[in-house]
Amino acid sequence: MNRVSIITPNAAFEEHAYSAAPELMSPGLRRWKEEYDRIDPAKVVADTAGEGVDVVCIGPDLADELMLELASAFDRDRPEVGVILAAEPTAQLWRSAAQVGVRDIVSADADPDVLRRALERALETVDRRRANLIADATPDTPRSRVITVLSPKGGSGKTTVATNLAVGLARTMGGKVALVDLDVQFGDVAAALQLSPTHTMAQVASAGTIEVTLLKVLLTPHASGLYALCGAESPAEGDDVTHGHASETLGLLAQEFAVVVVDTAAGLDERTLAAIEVSTDLLLVCTSDVASVRSLRKELDALDQLGMTGPRRHFVLNRADARVGLEPADVESAVGMQAALSLPSSRSVPLSMNLGSPVVESEPRSPVARQLQRLVEQFIDPEVPSRAGQNPVAGPPRRWWKADR
Ligand SMILES: Nc1ncnc2c1ncn2[C@@H]1O[C@H](COP(=O)(O)OP(=O)(O)O)[C@@H](O)[C@H]1O
Ligand SMILES: [Mg+2]
Repeated sequence: MNRVSIITPNAAFEEHAYSAAPELMSPGLRRWKEEYDRIDPAKVVADTAGEGVDVVCIGPDLADELMLELASAFDRDRPEVGVILAAEPTAQLWRSAAQVGVRDIVSADADPDVLRRALERALETVDRRRANLIADATPDTPRSRVITVLSPKGGSGKTTVATNLAVGLARTMGGKVALVDLDVQFGDVAAALQLSPTHTMAQVASAGTIEVTLLKVLLTPHASGLYALCGAESPAEGDDVTHGHASETLGLLAQEFAVVVVDTAAGLDERTLAAIEVSTDLLLVCTSDVASVRSLRKELDALDQLGMTGPRRHFVLNRADARVGLEPADVESAVGMQAALSLPSSRSVPLSMNLGSPVVESEPRSPVARQLQRLVEQFIDPEVPSRAGQNPVAGPPRRWWKADR
């Protein structure tokens, strides 16, 4: 970790700093070059920052104006580098220094541990600022769409929707589509697409560091052109996949693929929450029975309470024609959202799943496949929504007389 560089003509101070915090120092004593007090500060900055240092300590034995000029050049050209001064910390110097982004001024004859603490504090500030920059950048990171399919209940049609959507998209967009099975314990994406994966999400958990090259190895290609990252072989293995694994994996895939479709387990587990955090779109799937509708409404409320309002929400009503179910209008009213899509019940769906070939592929003319194809077309639109403020206002649930009776 060569993270600190000292810029001073004073060799004794340089040595003092090296012995105060040897492991933090950039290697090579005598950073100072004679010409430094004559040349353009921008060149000194380029020289120093080019070595990848995080913090510079400027002084002592430099004129205040020169120290401030150097600090100002870092502030302008390398704002990510933290600057502290080794000088007499007068009020006047503090005033001017603060204006050019100096973090701290430490006396040139400070005790080693005082100097060391000042350097550590500056490094901590740099690290924090960098973490904030990364967090701020995250919402814009997916230039691609990340579409997470979720539902509070099992059996509502998440895997059906996710696999048909991904295969439908891949048939148009080819290898630019990835499908991730985050139902890591009981996921059936592999079965639904008749894939025999050599690798699964479990390897992501055991890999330690996750990199694009590793992820590419873990993907299983499907005949449609899509790449699938399948769920774990066993529930125990799947349990090792954490929020962090899911979030890093999806972040990396979003950099590599134009569309990432994510299938999830029922409810809001840590992996699903990670997926929602990086999603541009949520596909909320629900069947038309009272329990499903109630649970979906609760899930929407939970997302609102968690502040997860960024991704655009789409509501998919599955088995909309179920004889025992509620009327679609009542479902929409109770959920507080209009259905973007209604899927009829069809024997073709379980049959196609058993065959490992989604209906958009195996029975493209069936009514259910036509509806799913409409969904696919909505997402072929090249314009990727921003992650903020896109949702139709899902007003409060209206009175739901049929269910409350
Ligand atoms: N529209 C539909 N018509 C008939 N069967 C369906 C329909 N949607 C889903 N199914 C069947 O219901 C079961 C559960 O669907 P699935 O997509 O696996 O749900 P989930 O992933 O939410 O648990 C599967 O057997 C599937 O074939
Ligand atoms: Mg499923």
